[in-house]
Amino acid sequence: MEVIIKENYEELSKFAAQFITDQINNKPDTVLGLATGSTPLGTYKELINLHKENKVDFSQVASFNLDEYVGLPKEHSQSYYYFMNENFFKHINIKPENWYLPDGMAKDIPQSCEEYEKKIKEYGGIDIQILGIGGNGHIAFNEPGSSLASRTRVKTLDEKTISDNSRFFDSIDEVPRYAITMGIGTIMEAKIIILLANGENKADAIVKTAEGPITSMVPASIVQLHPRATIIVDKAAASKLTREYSSEPAKLNL
Ligand code: PGA
Repeated sequence: MEVIIKENYEELSKFAAQFITDQINNKPDTVLGLATGSTPLGTYKELINLHKENKVDFSQVASFNLDEYVGLPKEHSQSYYYFMNENFFKHINIKPENWYLPDGMAKDIPQSCEEYEKKIKEYGGIDIQILGIGGNGHIAFNEPGSSLASRTRVKTLDEKTISDNSRFFDSIDEVPRYAITMGIGTIMEAKIIILLANGENKADAIVKTAEGPITSMVPASIVQLHPRATIIVDKAAASKLTREYSSEPAKLNL
């Protein structure tokens, strides 16, 4: 696992977008694992710019999102389907039939979770997984205490996550209580993981993830066991780290 500290959010986003672009240029049919939330927005914006400059082509790319709320239809402004389309997909040339999110409106949710896992396998697995991190150390909606071997399933959201996400809804009562999420075991099968975090409110979660023990109480700490995981943070999110880290990747790890 590698930690890279960038000066600020803009630098972090540019670095992550260039990293993803390089991977797609090496393997045009890259399978991306994508995240929602405010953290990856800058990366998506940079990728859109790179696409407009003809530096990256998504025509053969496929993508699988980490999670989706249960009970929000696709057209709901807070559904992750809507978020991805608005903030990324409609601005690039990924084919609509090649992007997938869990189906929060499925009649048989356990079956749809199994199908999601199967679909990822059909595409040959995820090449690069982008992760954000919750203030409580969650990855996707794998809240503290989630099995480190878990697969795609329904999870009840933590009170902290409900309150963190209430900023996007008119009131906290409107925040869904359940979500479908890829499991930690699913995420760990990605060939490359990049975990992004910015801002002081992520500093605790980042020091526990990078320097603490591996524990289900900090689900993100599992990335320490991944052979090709990179944590990319800005200075604020890095502020509680105790060891020295570089601002550039070790060449051998690329
Ligand atoms: P954020 O969410 O990017 O909006 O901070 C991250 C997460 O909860 O995983």
